[in-house]
Amino acid sequence: MSNIDWKNLPFGYQKTDYNVRCYWRNGQWGKLEVSSSETINIHMAATCLHYGQEAFEGLKAFRCKDGKVRVFRWEENAKRLNRSADGIMMQTVPIELFKEAMELVVNLNIGYVPPQDTGSSLYIRPLLIGSGPKVGVQPADEYLFMIFVTPVGPYFKEGFKPVNVQIIRDFDRAAPLGTGHIKVGGNYAASLIAGQRAHKEGYSTAIFLDAHDKKFIDEAGPANFFAIKGNSYITPQSKSILPSITNMSLRALAEDMGMKVELRSIAVDELADFDEVGACGTAAVISPIKKIQDRDTGAVYEYCPDGNAGPVSTKLYNRLRAIQYGDEPDKFGWMHVIE
Ligand SMILES: Cc1ncc(COP(=O)(O)O)c(C=O)c1O
Repeated sequence: MSNIDWKNLPFGYQKTDYNVRCYWRNGQWGKLEVSSSETINIHMAATCLHYGQEAFEGLKAFRCKDGKVRVFRWEENAKRLNRSADGIMMQTVPIELFKEAMELVVNLNIGYVPPQDTGSSLYIRPLLIGSGPKVGVQPADEYLFMIFVTPVGPYFKEGFKPVNVQIIRDFDRAAPLGTGHIKVGGNYAASLIAGQRAHKEGYSTAIFLDAHDKKFIDEAGPANFFAIKGNSYITPQSKSILPSITNMSLRALAEDMGMKVELRSIAVDELADFDEVGACGTAAVISPIKKIQDRDTGAVYEYCPDGNAGPVSTKLYNRLRAIQYGDEPDKFGWMHVIE
């Protein structure tokens, strides 16, 4: 690991030494297995390949100021994985199995947890797939739960920098009564064209609107949306967005800072009234937004008049990062010590 340039890691895949796997077969979870192979061998008729029985999670381990390695809010990811499993009729993963697998895979790859002062972290990717064969459309009889880890760099290499995003209406990532509220692969496949087009057109992501009325903000690609107006932290309430654990944490911090938290529909027209807006998620914590361009109406909403993130977004970002890296006491009990 001595050859890793910790400060310049991309947000991408890098091989580590081990991953862990566990199969549900014959009505029960088997033994947790350790593997050093990057590939899995599955049946060609596995339901994950044909009928989208696939869910995943994303969380991070941090090397803290005291030298210990801690994982952020892992129980929330474990619970969300099980909500995803229930939503597409997969076998759920016992919380204790999730914890054991996560602790084992982080410990086995402990040398890949980046040093504290680099802004990098160890990304943890749990995955649950239907691995049993079916030809008719039905849930599998066999499931594979696995976790791999990979060291990732800070999302913003040049620091906490505001981005431009675009509102689009010609694609939906999820239907109102569909699977938008769970973390299943199909949602991401449905968002690829809009996301890639946004990049090509010079935006960091596309903002999806509610699929029914195309009137309200849903979410920003793989991140939730939030806005600051006066002393309020406002974030969309919608059945078709993923309940972000970062967003949940920012709401707690906003409340702790004496702000009012509003969980409600946000109409596109309201964008002109906000002081600050941003996207939030595990990868970046917060991506401050400096410009939102409506791809259909041409309307432009601008923030960050001096080119920097607004004061409230900056404070929220700094506080959450300080808790994650152990620079601030963990008063909410969000961090779990691994080593
Ligand atoms: C669609 C979507 N929304 C929001 C988020 C942010 O969620 P979290 O803060 O739990 O990473 C993610 C990433 O997991 C996502 O994929």
